[in-house]
Amino acid sequence: MDAMLVTGGAGFIGSNFVRYALNRYPDARVVVLDALTYAGSLANIDDCVESDRLRFIQGDIRDKGTVEDAMRGVDTVVNFAAESHVDRSILDPSSFVETNYNGVYVLLEAARRLEVKRFLQVSTDEVYGHVPSGLSDESDAFAPRSPYAASKAAADLLVQSYYTTYGLPVLITRGGNTVGPYQYPEKVLPLFITNALEYKPLPVYGDGSAVRSYLYVEDHCSAIDRVLRTGQPGNAYNVGTNCEVNGRDLADRILEILDRPANLREFVPDRSGHDLRYALDCGRIRSLGWSPAFDFETMLNETVQWYVDHRPWWQEIRNEGSFRAYYRKQYHER
Ligand code: NAD
Ligand code: DAU
Repeated sequence: MDAMLVTGGAGFIGSNFVRYALNRYPDARVVVLDALTYAGSLANIDDCVESDRLRFIQGDIRDKGTVEDAMRGVDTVVNFAAESHVDRSILDPSSFVETNYNGVYVLLEAARRLEVKRFLQVSTDEVYGHVPSGLSDESDAFAPRSPYAASKAAADLLVQSYYTTYGLPVLITRGGNTVGPYQYPEKVLPLFITNALEYKPLPVYGDGSAVRSYLYVEDHCSAIDRVLRTGQPGNAYNVGTNCEVNGRDLADRILEILDRPANLREFVPDRSGHDLRYALDCGRIRSLGWSPAFDFETMLNETVQWYVDHRPWWQEIRNEGSFRAYYRKQYHER
């Protein structure tokens, strides 16, 4: 029976991955290690926690003892745990350096000591910096521009060094902008959807021309699974789509789908150092037989419908004092 440690398994992509693994592999055992920061919640895996194949540990990936306990007896490690929001990294980078770099160091050391068979680091296309034209492939130089992106790029380099230096069988995935169920409503799509549902303005940064290539979370999970099982240790794999959409069109489309007034779209001051485009060459992962199953309209409709159907989930978050304080700082006092 496979045993896998999933760190950050109570966050957005991690919780979807835990569900994906338990459903797809009836013999799989999953240990989830998650600190339950503002972005993580047991509610994201409430349908999985009853399973006798899941063990949940609340703990921090920076804590050596906790990490060793969680990792003992597992074959593979998939690390999702991170501070993940670019705007928060601009407001205060400290926890990004702490978790995204120092935390990965603690995980790598434990993986080396316990001789895990595969260590997969979930990384991001933001390590390449913004790409005005063309596509980034895995051998491109890093040019991260936000503290979030820089902390992830630094971690990629450290992970890579454990392969070169110690022969630890590492893999890295660099995913694009992921959307779908259980995404904390600070990222653009769930923020726009939940604001629209509450007839609040949709804050579009700058002139709304920055584009992102959107990836449905189920496709991101199947890509990570594919790399984990068939990827070549030491390699990084880009994971993305070519569904490029700018912020202005995204806001308009959501207002259209939810039948809300078009004038809820509001231009606000731009993000500092805003990356205007990411775009990935995904030839390497396609050669493993992976391709995305969801086109942009399908992923948008699925995601909108999930937020329509799960009001209590996101209303509880949006009513929390910490979310309101963040919203005020980010959107009213900036
Ligand atoms: P998220 O913010 O929704 O979840 C992060 C999870 O990590 C939370 O459950 C949180 O409690 C946990 N966590 C944070 N710090 C921790 C710590 N010190 N110890 C233990 N747990 C901790 O993030 P997400 O959007 O699901 O992203 C998951 C991973 O995927 C991240 O590494 C991110 O960089 C990467 N990624 C995200 C996207 C995206 O579009 N969301 C795209 C590409 C890559
Ligand atoms: O590309 C992968 C990355 O995608 C991940 O590594 C990150 O963890 C994830 O947060 C995401 O980063 P982005 O910065 O691209 O996502 P965000 O949802 O914050 O912003 C997407 C675009 O929407 C970007 O051009 C900024 C814009 N935006 C965002 C917010 C929150 C707005 O116009 N208004 C907003 O309120």
